[in-house]
Amino acid sequence: MRTSFFVLALCALATVGAQAAPQAAGPIVIKFAHVVADNTPKGQGALLFKQLVEERLPGKVEVEVHANSSLYGDADELEALRRNEVQLLAPSLAKFGQYTKQLQVFDLPFLFDDLDAVNRFQKRAKGRQLLRSMEAHGIVGLAYWHNGMKQLSASRALLLPSDAAGLSFRIQPSAVLDAQFQRLGARTRAMAFTEVFEALRSGQVQGAENPWSNIYSKQLHRVQPFISETNHGVLDYMLVSNPRFWYALPHSIRVELEAIVDEVSYSVNRQAEADNRADRQRIEASGSSQLISLTAEQREAWRNAMRPVWQQFEAQIGADVLQAAEAVNRKSRR
Ligand code: LMR
Repeated sequence: MRTSFFVLALCALATVGAQAAPQAAGPIVIKFAHVVADNTPKGQGALLFKQLVEERLPGKVEVEVHANSSLYGDADELEALRRNEVQLLAPSLAKFGQYTKQLQVFDLPFLFDDLDAVNRFQKRAKGRQLLRSMEAHGIVGLAYWHNGMKQLSASRALLLPSDAAGLSFRIQPSAVLDAQFQRLGARTRAMAFTEVFEALRSGQVQGAENPWSNIYSKQLHRVQPFISETNHGVLDYMLVSNPRFWYALPHSIRVELEAIVDEVSYSVNRQAEADNRADRQRIEASGSSQLISLTAEQREAWRNAMRPVWQQFEAQIGADVLQAAEAVNRKSRR
């Protein structure tokens, strides 16, 4: 039987009591850690959250933003959150596999037509339910934040799926992403985001998949001579806290923080696509990477090669979740 979130929150409060409750004496400090640069959708969201909190809750709440894996990184940030050593994170949806299999839906290749479709799914009932899918593990989902659609970069031009065969791609730690590249006859190396530039530069891996903003902010285009504009999958985030902290906040403060989360999420989600477009242009203007636009036939070939991954993961994700996600596209193409 699933532990209800409410019961879990109460238990957490009863067990940790005063230890986790914000101290009355000084301001409540929220540590917000993430792994990307400030000039990305997530980085901007974190800074806007800090600004609004400190404007609206002066002297009551302070926010410390730790960008670029400077406090915690991919390897330890979720465990640190569960221990309440950090109070806010926004990991990519590919990084929660240890706590729920349902979120793997977001990694399925060619499932969402575009970011608008992703947005519709996140707003509908099934998408909202997934924010609660890790409650039994002490992770509270507060909101979804967009980054954008992923592009495939490599040491050689990728026009057709067969061009990727034999290359090794860096992936986020996701069984779906591993299966996606296996379908191409490629190999994968799961590694932390901080390691990607050096792994590509040294040739340890020859390719990667990232939204434009992550490519540009980490200068990955300087070590990837070709980028194919595949838009084959999404890289989005879940803003998360832990119940031990979040439900111990004084009610009026939590209500204000929730309103700020809504406002920041709206801003991040409205701005992310434009940020990615601007970074695409910067990459193109740099001339260090050749941008490859696929024809409709070439893109269909990638889709056909990767699409069997859906069936492979349908049972783990849940047919209901997969169907709800597919239904947000304007035209179903099962
Ligand atoms: C990655 O590891 O590639 C991304 O999850 C990094 C991020 O947070 O955008």
